[in-house]
Amino acid sequence: MKSLKPKILRFESLPSTNTELARQASEGAGEGLSIVAEEQTAGRGRLQRAWSSPKGAGLYFSILLRPTVAPDQWPLITFMAALAAGDALSEGCDVNTDIKWPNDLLSGERKICGILAESVETLTGRAVIVGIGINLTADAYPVELAGVATSVVEASRRAPERETLLAALLRALSRWYSLLHEIDGPSKIVAAWTSRSSYASGKPVQVANGDEVWQGITRGLESDGALRLETTDGMKLVRAGDVSLRPADH
Ligand code: BTN
Repeated sequence: MKSLKPKILRFESLPSTNTELARQASEGAGEGLSIVAEEQTAGRGRLQRAWSSPKGAGLYFSILLRPTVAPDQWPLITFMAALAAGDALSEGCDVNTDIKWPNDLLSGERKICGILAESVETLTGRAVIVGIGINLTADAYPVELAGVATSVVEASRRAPERETLLAALLRALSRWYSLLHEIDGPSKIVAAWTSRSSYASGKPVQVANGDEVWQGITRGLESDGALRLETTDGMKLVRAGDVSLRPADH
């Protein structure tokens, strides 16, 4: 059984916990090394976006993983991280979440948590840095995102306990990561993700990937996590991009 033994390094301020952990990974840091920062001055999101990270307003966390599953199952790491972050929000803060493909956690259709998984070459082989940002208060995101973002305070109406949330996150990551390495683990992860996501099936969405924009209805996940999208031109498999509700439908 693969078991994670997280070790936490804490920083007052970093450009990005993912960047610092990638640096330490390239020098040979071991699996489970985790970094938490009070603030990030150059927090990074998916699709080359910035992740606003003011002091004390969010949980800014990264963990180093050295998976031993087959390379075609590595994309599932980001799905297992979404499941773990969802468990942590539920167990640690009483906040229930939906998952928007691939790994945005939503509360009331607004984003409360984002995940950035990046693979890095290291002295001891390829590794993955999983970075998780959870909005604790409304100060975590810029005011112009108020319509699409939310925070633990807004979703639970009580002060977030950052350490309780972090402890729940580490427990949940350990559970889901062990499952990923079990024989039927990958299919169980896809099934769990599907059962927790209103976006998995039957959802009218738009997918933007670079210059390409597709519209269609979601029709579940492939075994590697690709999103099946039924369009007027047939079934497309989405492996990267930004999913949003189809403009005419909301
Ligand atoms: C996204 O939804 O775009 C992903 C956001 C990921 C943000 C986290 S905060 C901790 C870690 N360090 C970063 O620079 N990014 C991730």
